[in-house]
Amino acid sequence: MTQTEDRTSLSTEDTPLVPIEKIVSLCKRRGFVYPNSEIYGGVSGIYDFGPLGVELRNNIRRYWWWSMVQLNDNVVGIEGSIITHPRVWEASGHVENFVDRLVDCKNCKRRFRVDHLPAENLKQNKCPVCGGELTEPRTFNLMMETYIGVVEGERMKTYLRGEACQNIYLDYDNVLKSSRMQIPFGICQIGKAFRNEVTPGNFLFRQREFEQWDLQFFVHPSEMQKWFDYWKAFRFEWYQGIINHTDRLRFRAHGPDELAHYAKQAFDIEYRSIIGWQEWEGIHWRQDWDLSRHSQFSGQDLSYTDPETKERYIPWIVETSGGVDRTFLNLLLDAYEEEPQSGKDKEGRTVLHLHPWLAPVKVAVLPLQKNKEELVTTARDIHNRLKRLMVAQYDDVANIGRRYRRQDEIGTPFCVTVDFQTLEDQTVTVRERDGMTQIRLAIDELQGYLVEKVMWR
Ligand code: GAP
Repeated sequence: MTQTEDRTSLSTEDTPLVPIEKIVSLCKRRGFVYPNSEIYGGVSGIYDFGPLGVELRNNIRRYWWWSMVQLNDNVVGIEGSIITHPRVWEASGHVENFVDRLVDCKNCKRRFRVDHLPAENLKQNKCPVCGGELTEPRTFNLMMETYIGVVEGERMKTYLRGEACQNIYLDYDNVLKSSRMQIPFGICQIGKAFRNEVTPGNFLFRQREFEQWDLQFFVHPSEMQKWFDYWKAFRFEWYQGIINHTDRLRFRAHGPDELAHYAKQAFDIEYRSIIGWQEWEGIHWRQDWDLSRHSQFSGQDLSYTDPETKERYIPWIVETSGGVDRTFLNLLLDAYEEEPQSGKDKEGRTVLHLHPWLAPVKVAVLPLQKNKEELVTTARDIHNRLKRLMVAQYDDVANIGRRYRRQDEIGTPFCVTVDFQTLEDQTVTVRERDGMTQIRLAIDELQGYLVEKVMWR
């Protein structure tokens, strides 16, 4: 599958890394992301998504689902619940092992995760910011507790899921029996996860409530390497296909001391932004950890019998696990550009070079003047037809240049302008966001043209 074709005329030169504050400000101003509970002072590491944010998020999710579930015959999807039986988290190892070690600076009171401290500071027990002395490390479990039931004493303590993928192991046997899948096959899910992160920060990058997308691919042990390599390459190409700066993407292998308790091998797909190279998605060699542990803790045999050879074994698992929120943030960091004045645009502009498939608004319909009834009627009519197919905005406020810039700033790939020529020959101007080029198209051809450009295929 080629995911990169048909991109518009972007410069291939590297542009400066964008400060996160610029993205935070754009997100608030234009309705992508708001701080949660802001009127009460906010909650650290928790955010809400506004009108444009929810469109972008839905597009990101749908594109992932389309390319992972819909296009792969050997992959199906589920949607599991956030709350499960508490034994799940004992079996998964999270109650015991899902911990972060933390130190505080005695002088400036800043807090650091031990695994994020530079080796030098760790050795000298010195704060990386002010040089003050650090406290002894303390250990914290990241699982968020909750309770099922209302009567005190009879309530059952459990957890909001710390990783979404556990539902896939819990439903694995049901999927096998109800969907006629045979190994090798995969189960996908997109869903919320919750972690009491000790150092949330960098906007959407490290949150306490966030969304993950997972593929768990079940294989015969002898085929593990083949499928691990396959999905590792597939996922890397997938991310390459949705960003402009492909040189900001790389793999990083986990060292033995940083492997999660369930992984025998792991590679991160990392993206380079203003906060350095950071994990975007993890590709994990989970082996038989999950199904063996759930078999052991639940007493249910989760082994698989090959229908032809009758061999019985616990399937091994390749996991690809990424974040919807990190995708959201990285796409904005990757797409944001402040273009200086040029011949084409005398005032300069802020533009989001988002892939047209993912852009929250696909097209804006603009009558050249709002006080000319024929222009407005025609533009309204075009808008009414387009909005049934894709997210389309109608805008008649301010001069045409300013309206184009408003759309550029939210990444709308096309603007359709209805002008006086439209009234004579039933054609409109279609202006493309990145190159700011304009073509004339018959109104009748508009739908087909836009569908071809903005819908994935
Ligand atoms: N099931 C495996 C698993 O959960 P992980 O590396 O802890 O692995 C997978 O998480 C992905 O989830 C990460 O690559 C990242 O994109 C996202 N993620 C993890 N913690 C996050 C957080 N606190 N805030 C936002 N996204 C997070």
